[in-house]
Amino acid sequence: MSFRLAKYLIPVVLVVGWFCFTSFGKGVPSGQLVLYCGRSKALVKPLLNQFQSETGIRVKVRYAKTAQLAVALVEEGQQSRADLFWAQDAGSLGVLSKSGLLASLHPEIVDSIPPQFRNRGGQWVATSGRARVLAFAPLRVSREELPQRLEELVDPKWKGRVGWAPTNASFQAAVTAMRNSWGDGRTKKWLVAMKINGTRNYAKNTPILKALAAGEIDLGLPNHYYLLRFKANDDQFPVEQQFFAPGDIGNLVNVAGIGVVKYSPNQELAMKFVHFLLSARAQQYFAKQVFEYPVIDGVEASSRLVSHERLLELAPSVKLDELSDVADTIAMLKEVGLL
Ligand SMILES: [Fe+2]
Repeated sequence: MSFRLAKYLIPVVLVVGWFCFTSFGKGVPSGQLVLYCGRSKALVKPLLNQFQSETGIRVKVRYAKTAQLAVALVEEGQQSRADLFWAQDAGSLGVLSKSGLLASLHPEIVDSIPPQFRNRGGQWVATSGRARVLAFAPLRVSREELPQRLEELVDPKWKGRVGWAPTNASFQAAVTAMRNSWGDGRTKKWLVAMKINGTRNYAKNTPILKALAAGEIDLGLPNHYYLLRFKANDDQFPVEQQFFAPGDIGNLVNVAGIGVVKYSPNQELAMKFVHFLLSARAQQYFAKQVFEYPVIDGVEASSRLVSHERLLELAPSVKLDELSDVADTIAMLKEVGLL
């Protein structure tokens, strides 16, 4: 090829190449979002990849503990680079919405979620549900014998047979819900009665399940998905679980949820991301990967999960925003000698 021909051909090849790369590749990046994320990288990464390939929007992530990120967002205020906050529990989202740091979500996003799964002001929505349950050892307790109300666990019949995890954030959120529903006096009385009844302390949820299987205890108060993890590895794992009576506070459904930062310059793109997390495919992913409850109807979840409608019947009516008052719960747990 002559030098003159090459001189004309090379720019043409470069221009055509660039066009092909940007048009037919993984999509032209049409924006970028910064996500502060309290959920694990292993869970989130595949979803971000899918979001990017569908929309061309890149998501940069800062991973840390939910409570830590909430503190960072409050400190950063208007200066924050975050567009979105994805939290592991409702309490931290409550802190941010009370601080006026979350934008109002688009009405079509808010309206697609049952009221139990969003805050009243429409500043954040749940992305999945994590329920409190009563786990039990079926070799030693029959389903018929199980208490129907959380308060029945103080019965002398259960002396020394129940396990809980007072240092665990999910347990503390459950106590905060009890304080809101029952009031401080009744909650404190229950905690003390449980302690007197010999309720055993565990560091977190997994040891409760192990203690049930090992015969140390007969009943336990964990989150629902731990048992499903054990069963996924061993179908014969000798523990079962069930809910208390419909509406009982023992069935608290806490959530992972997301909000758009009020000062984000990328409101529209951020809303797209929220929308994406509420799509059937994202919802199914949570249900299959981490056995959490979908927050929308019509998603095929694990056969070990109750249906969306049933979950809504079972869940107590708790204002998820009110779960932000963890400080007073911790003070109460210290006062009764559980921390
Ligand atoms: Fe957990």
